[in-house]
Amino acid sequence: MDKLNKRIVLVTGATGGLGTAMCKKLYKDGYRVVGNYRSKEKAKAWLDKMHEEDYVINLFYGDVSDYESAGHLIKDIENSIGPIDTLVNNAGITKDTRLVNMKKEDWYEVINTNLNSVFNCTKQVLDGMIERKFGRIINISSVNGQRGQFGQTNYSAAKAGMHGFTKSLSMEVAKYGITVNTISPGYIGTDMVMAVPEKVLNQIIAQVPIGRLGGTHEVAHLVSFLASEETSFITGANYAINGGQHVY
Ligand code: CAA
Repeated sequence: MDKLNKRIVLVTGATGGLGTAMCKKLYKDGYRVVGNYRSKEKAKAWLDKMHEEDYVINLFYGDVSDYESAGHLIKDIENSIGPIDTLVNNAGITKDTRLVNMKKEDWYEVINTNLNSVFNCTKQVLDGMIERKFGRIINISSVNGQRGQFGQTNYSAAKAGMHGFTKSLSMEVAKYGITVNTISPGYIGTDMVMAVPEKVLNQIIAQVPIGRLGGTHEVAHLVSFLASEETSFITGANYAINGGQHVY
């Protein structure tokens, strides 16, 4: 096993559509992959499926929207597997509705899960990365954090917030060999996207020059690229992967 093969990656939101594809790709690329779960039943079904497909990936309990729970998650992983070299802040939810109809809970749940989770996890892996002089932090944002989306004030605000976080933190930790980057996927064929009403989704796909939804494997490929040793000069960047839907 070379050095790369011993790197440990934590993917938050591992059991979702994008998270699953990331875990598989990172595993195939030789990383030790771990994720978190919130529902025991969902975790068991997911682990059974991974086992069937010959992936060796561990899940640990942790609600990343909560600082204490994220701390326990990270401690548990570090105690039983080892120090986290790469953190993929991927956990995210939607509560889409126009602001006039948005409940206070819809706002806070999305901000806590999609943005505060990034602080909760990054803050608690950072000291170790600084000590070891290596780290990769990869924040999964969205095209809708760059351009806005009708019905997503909460989600777009959280995803836009990640960009500021990435840029600022990249400056603070560059000298320790830690890179911090954002990936902004467009509409990818996940359950989250397929929950958008069909008529609305068709209108969105019509705005995508490539003319289709993205594949989860396409985003996973980019994650693995940014996790690699060779990307040590890439930091503070945003990688758009949206089929040309938003160019800037
Ligand atoms: N632009 C302008 N006006 C719009 C509009 C749009 N995109 N969508 C709806 N409207 C208008 C409607 O025509 C309607 O107008 P009238 O009252 O004058 O007829 C009005 O807004 C209200 O429409 P609805 O009754 O449909 O509004 P709603 O509040 O019930 O539903 C919604 C709105 C739930 C947000 C629905 O439009 C929707 O699901 N949109 C898709 C949101 C989306 O893209 N989510 C992405 C999820 S996946 C993801 O987030 C992953 C990622 O990173 C890309």
